[in-house]
Amino acid sequence: MRSRTLRGAAVAAGLCVLTSAQPALAAPVDHGKPRYSAGAPSVGDPYFPDEGNGGFDVRHYDIAFSYDPAAKRMDATTTITAVATQDLDQFDLDFRGPDISSLTIDRHPAAFRREGQELIVTPRPKLKAGTSFTVIVKYAGTPPVITDPDDSIEGWVPTEDGAFVPGEPQGSPAWYPGSDHPTDKATFTFHATVPEALTAVGNGQLLSQRTSNGRTTFVWDSTEPMATYLATVTIGKFQVAQSATRSGIPIYTAVDPQLASRSAATVARIPDIIEYFSSIFGPYPFASAGAIIDRAPDVGYALESQTKPIFSSAPDLSTMAHEIAHQWYGDSVSLGRWSDIWLNEGFATYAEWIWTEHNGGATAQQTFDSAGNYGRAATSAFWQTVTTDPGPVDMFGNVPYDRGAMTLHALRGKIGDAAFFRLLKEWAAKHRYGNVSTADFVREAQKVSGMDLRSFFDVWLFQKGKPSAW
Ligand code: TRP
Ligand code: ZN
Repeated sequence: MRSRTLRGAAVAAGLCVLTSAQPALAAPVDHGKPRYSAGAPSVGDPYFPDEGNGGFDVRHYDIAFSYDPAAKRMDATTTITAVATQDLDQFDLDFRGPDISSLTIDRHPAAFRREGQELIVTPRPKLKAGTSFTVIVKYAGTPPVITDPDDSIEGWVPTEDGAFVPGEPQGSPAWYPGSDHPTDKATFTFHATVPEALTAVGNGQLLSQRTSNGRTTFVWDSTEPMATYLATVTIGKFQVAQSATRSGIPIYTAVDPQLASRSAATVARIPDIIEYFSSIFGPYPFASAGAIIDRAPDVGYALESQTKPIFSSAPDLSTMAHEIAHQWYGDSVSLGRWSDIWLNEGFATYAEWIWTEHNGGATAQQTFDSAGNYGRAATSAFWQTVTTDPGPVDMFGNVPYDRGAMTLHALRGKIGDAAFFRLLKEWAAKHRYGNVSTADFVREAQKVSGMDLRSFFDVWLFQKGKPSAW
């Protein structure tokens, strides 16, 4: 089984009031005469009230930087291509990175100021709804490590030989400005220049790798829409290997040499895991796959960075399966708000269960029944957290993972294998590259099964307490 510590275990439960976080994606309306106003400073997600922004929709990030690990210094230019969704005389970006030396909008220098993670920008000329515009931000210095509500760390985490870069749920503004909420997905290109002994590994496909004057520039292209928290350019001494799945999906793995022997058996199974999940979840959603295995002991968890999950130590097979499953559930199909995190973690955990069964280990039913799952005593505090509202402190605690996975296994028993596996495929296909909510899942489960599942989902997802009948 996967090691619990790899993902970190949170303790206290913090409950938040559910309000719906709406993506800033409303179709531009023709007002006739423009009526300019400031874009909203966030999307209003109660778990992370500053994340995201309103008034525009980011289409593409081009992030170009050089990084000097000895000085921990980055010199960066990020170019954001976006479309205004309202008439804008001001808008915010999320940014917690180092000092900005210049900011232009469509080549015009723009006034800006910083308040917490908000980078408040005043475009002149103003931007009309529907206009595409380009923001170029230049900055240099040391990007920060960010501490999460559960005290885990993310953002830009220096390692012995480079940097480990996880962004969930709020790390991406450490190293690039943007709209940091999963509802504003975009394509990405990275140009990372590092000392020639090192490799900079980003999401997507390697377009070029050129060395001159002792430094190598890696260009990575992430061609499908990606949530900001899934972006990484992780840097270090890596053993790189390139291969492909049987169906031709290219695989790029980067492994810290000190972890190579301990990781080899797990890395060797990546193609099998992708093939197995493709057979039950539907086609792998991205143009490439892989993994980044690094030594970042202070991070202690793995993250499903798009196309290339990142591991802060040598992963076991279950954890590898978990992060690969997220490529369908979490990365391609994304959350609309963080309180629905069980839609990521419950699915990826259930994927571990069925991979384990497929691989000759415990059956999913045995895992469901085990002491760490349904076998927990009814008096355990575990049952006192509502699956659909763990709170920001416990969003990566046990409940979204284990009760989430139990919910799916119980649903499978309730609606039968045929409907259940049809539902998993349909969920991935219908919402490919999109955003979802628990309500969408409940609706689709009822549609696919033709059953009234309201009381089922009520006991598993919306109520406290150990379900005893469903
Ligand atoms: N989503 C990751 C996984 O389960 C875990 C994770 C991301 C995490 N960020 C975190 C765990 C912060 C603890 C704290 O694969
Ligand atoms: Zn996960």
